This record gives sequence, C-alpha cells and structure tokens, in this order.
Amino acid sequence: MAGRVAGKVALITGGGGGIGAATGRLFVEEGAAVALADRDGAAVEQAAAEIRADHPASQVLALQADLTDLAEARRVVAATIERFGRLHILAAIAGVRVYGPLVDATPESWAYILGVNVLATAYSCQAAIPALRAAGGGSIVIMSSVYGLAGRAGMSQYDTTKAALLGLTRALAVEEAPHGIRVNAILPGPTITPFHIKRMAERGVSEAELRATGASHTLFNRFAEPREVAQPILFLASDEASYITGIELVVDGGARIK
Ligand SMILES: NC(=O)c1ccc[n+]([C@@H]2O[C@H](COP(=O)([O-])OP(=O)(O)OC[C@H]3O[C@@H](n4cnc5c(N)ncnc54)[C@H](O)[C@@H]3O)[C@@H](O)[C@H]2O)c1
Repeated sequence: MAGRVAGKVALITGGGGGIGAATGRLFVEEGAAVALADRDGAAVEQAAAEIRADHPASQVLALQADLTDLAEARRVVAATIERFGRLHILAAIAGVRVYGPLVDATPESWAYILGVNVLATAYSCQAAIPALRAAGGGSIVIMSSVYGLAGRAGMSQYDTTKAALLGLTRALAVEEAPHGIRVNAILPGPTITPFHIKRMAERGVSEAELRATGASHTLFNRFAEPREVAQPILFLASDEASYITGIELVVDGGARIK
C-alpha cells in the first residue's frame, strides 16, 4: 500500500478520542497498520469500526487499556506486536483535563491528571521503546499543548502536565537518539473534538454556537479540526521528519502570537 507511512506499524494512545481517532484514520489512509488504545473500550471499538467501514482493506486493532498502569501499557505494545509483528511509531495522545484554578486543586485532582497526562504518556513510551529499538528505530510523538508554553487562568494543573511533557520529550530525544528513535512534541491550540462539543452541550451551548464563538484568540478565529492536528503528527511520525528530534511543533492557528 502506498503512503507516507506505508509498511509502518503505529500505536496510537487515546485512539478512541477526537484527535487520536483522526490520527488513526489518517495513518491508515497513509498506509500504516494501526493499533488504537484507549481506556474507553466502546469509543476505541467505534473508532476502529468507522475506519474499517471506510477502508475495508485497512489493518486496525482496537485495544481497551488504562495506560496509567505500566503493565497495561506493556500489554498493549505486546498485543500490537502479536498482531502486526513490529512497532515503528508511538503517538501518545491520551489525556484528560481538570478545570479550575490551582487554588482549588486537590491531591486527588493532581493524582488524576498527573497519572494520565504525565505517567500514562511516560509509561507508553517506556513500554514502546524496546519494540522501537528492535525495529531498528522509530518515532515517538508526544501530545503536549500550546498551553505547555503559554500560561492562562483556570487550567493550571492541565497546563503543568503539558509543560512536563516537553521535558519528557527532550530527555527521551537525547536518551533514544543513539537507538535511532526520534522523539517530538506536538502542541495544538483549540481543536474541536467530541470532548469539547459534549462538554459545551451539557452547558446548553450547541456545536454551531461553540464554533461561532470559540477560538477567537487564534489568527483564524476558528478551531482546528482534528485532522489538522493529525497531519503534523503524521509528518513527525514519518520518515519525512528523519532529521527532526526534540522539537516542539506548535499547531495553534497563531494563538500564541495574536
Ligand atoms: N482538543 C483540544 O483543543 C486539544 C488541544 C491541545 C491538546 N490536546 C490534547 O490532545 C489529546 C486528545 O484530545 P481530544 O480533544 O481528542 O480529547 P479526547 O478526550 O477526545 O481524547 C482523549 C482520549 O484519551 C483517553 N484516555 C484518558 N485517560 C486514559 C487512560 N488512562 N488510558 C488510556 N486512554 C485514556 C480518553 O478515553 C479519550 O478517548 C489530549 O491529550 C489533549 O490534552 C487537545
């Protein structure tokens, strides 16, 4: 199959979510075999089924797993290799939000968001690295956020975790370069995913209203579509980025400079 990641095997965490599912779809369209892993079993099965329905020849595996458990991360990597034989790419996209100022944070809210955003990402990398090394090298793309660089009110715990992932990216890029593994971070701005649409619907805001009023702090005055984030993930994951490691690729519609 032709494509920018033809012949590659990719593991995408958070594959049942908005950006993760869009990334899985794009990778399949570009020739990869894809394992989608997510804590939400129904969501990840649905994402895989939708990709298969549109691309009957695709190789897609859906795996339910809570990646805050290192043993689960290792099980997911093992299942991917059992099915597809190798692993070349990890896109570590799983993440959660905690809303509210730091002054209201609790030990439980810290444990929750650090557990998923930092530890599950680190565990996914830890579990994948031996397989990437065994494949002769590979690419890890870590999901940060433009708010890992820029401060804002009301999301301090989330933004702390996304900044921590930039440290993880740099450290892993240095550690794994001798093994042929590139490690880069992707830093999206506001991206319209089912998570945000559902959250705003619960507050009585329709998707159309969200789209109309949201993201005015970008230069384009609109949200990114999930596929607009998946495209630069694909680039970093592919051999087109063979000389790129340790970078922070901002995909924010100019939000940071507005
Ligand atoms: N949407 C945005 O505006 C935006 C902007 C910047 C960064 N991001 C980041 O992109 C990623 C995806 O965002 P999204 O909008 O698609 O959100 P989403 O909630 O749709 O996707 C996140 C997925 O991660 C999964 N997940 C959560 N905890 C997990 C765990 N312990 N183990 C395995 N899977 C787990 C969830 O079930 C969900 O399917 C997140 O890391 C988010 O922080 C999103």
